[in-house]
Amino acid sequence: MPALVLLGAQWGDEGKGKATDLLGGSVDYVVRYQGGNNAGHTVVVGDQKYALHLLPSGILSPGCTPVIGNGVVVDPSVLLSELSGLNERGVDTSKLILSGNAHIITPYNVTVDKVTERFLGKRKIGTTGRGIGPTYADKINRVGIRVQDLYDESILTQKVEAALDVKNQILTKLYNRRAIAVGQAVEELLGYADKLAPYVADTVLVLNQALEEDKVVLFEGGQGTLLDIDHGTYPFVTSSNPTAGGACTGAGVGPTKISRVIGILKAYTTRVGAGPFPTELFDEDGEALRRIGGERGVTTGRDRRCGWFDAVIARYATRVNGLTDFFLTKLDVLTGWEQIPVCVAYEIDGKRVEELPYSQTDFHHAKPVYEMLPGWSEDISKAKSFSDLPKNAQSYVKALEEMSGAPISAIGVGPGRDETIEINSFL
Ligand code: GDP
Ligand code: IMO
Ligand code: MG
Repeated sequence: MPALVLLGAQWGDEGKGKATDLLGGSVDYVVRYQGGNNAGHTVVVGDQKYALHLLPSGILSPGCTPVIGNGVVVDPSVLLSELSGLNERGVDTSKLILSGNAHIITPYNVTVDKVTERFLGKRKIGTTGRGIGPTYADKINRVGIRVQDLYDESILTQKVEAALDVKNQILTKLYNRRAIAVGQAVEELLGYADKLAPYVADTVLVLNQALEEDKVVLFEGGQGTLLDIDHGTYPFVTSSNPTAGGACTGAGVGPTKISRVIGILKAYTTRVGAGPFPTELFDEDGEALRRIGGERGVTTGRDRRCGWFDAVIARYATRVNGLTDFFLTKLDVLTGWEQIPVCVAYEIDGKRVEELPYSQTDFHHAKPVYEMLPGWSEDISKAKSFSDLPKNAQSYVKALEEMSGAPISAIGVGPGRDETIEINSFL
């Protein structure tokens, strides 16, 4: 029973950080398996607020070992500054382990991310500009730099040469930028070697041994299902697999070990960056969701696009992840609406469609078909059990559960650890 995956069921920012932190006290390992510091996970503990980008949210639970798996892309400068920021606030980070096989986001990958977006102009993806796409591209092109390469200067130099060979041609000839010197890039990377050394480990071995000993391992996804490179709204996606299968490849743990897959689901929908979003609102309701929900990006500070709950997406997330449970977050944000529209299907070119269309063209044409659910006005932030919720809030949750295809096992009614209604235990 010990391995659980916790992932975003929509377009990211569903509250994965809070949910992970909540379970962190009861698990032995929390593992990031994909993405990098494009993530922004907010955790509120008492009166303290933490914004984590690269570190697993389990770092805030003293008994838990945080792990950065092989599938993650790591910007060493961000990792070191995140660690020192936490140390300054009294958080012990010494248990962290980092896969030697994780790929490094080099400074030239960050440059390429930014110039590519500029070059795309109005067709841009709206990336976080953190070098995520170019680093995964180097990995797939087999010219990536891995954490272990920092410990062999000669190999590192050869690999940086290989990576810059083509990139410098593109930077100078296509983008009109200056070439990046191999020596300078190598020197900068070598500067991180000693500082990272205490954390580097064979994380695959550690995790599999832990599972054999019946330890509890929680895999914490970054981003979300609809941002998945294979299953998301391509090309408006991130460059990794946040979906459940990504936990296996990104951590080196077989699918037979995973017993539970929890989808974090916001009670409405948000998206950052470009791409289709059928229930997006451009009126005062959208503005109100943004204001009440505090929907501003943790990583880039961009306003999040806001819209009503989309059950088609939730059903899709259940299917592609094999979800066993949902953790519904931010129900409190919906307090005060007389009626709450919920998208139950799409209308595409005059036809009603119940499931997410595989065709990008169809999805771009999808118009939401709404069902109106009665709202509530009572403050629900102090609710501790399902029966504490007003009747209409209970019905809203039950309706979402029915439409989404997996049980809602927890409900968030505020950002704090204890502002949660637990219905079914996750462990
Ligand atoms: P993540 O990327 O999935 O970890 O989510 P973010 O941290 O980017 O965004 C979620 C935001 O909602 C954060 O500011 C959380 O503190 C906050 N949050 C999480 N759960 C709840 C909830 O149930 N109610 C409210 N009001 N805020 C929540
Ligand atoms: P968390 O983990 C929301 C979006 C970007 C952009 C697209 C590609 O906090 O949920 P990238 O820099 O990854 O190449 O950008 O993906 N994006 C996120 N949106 N939450 C995130 O992470 C995101 N990480 C990337 O806005 O549209
Ligand atoms: Mg976030």
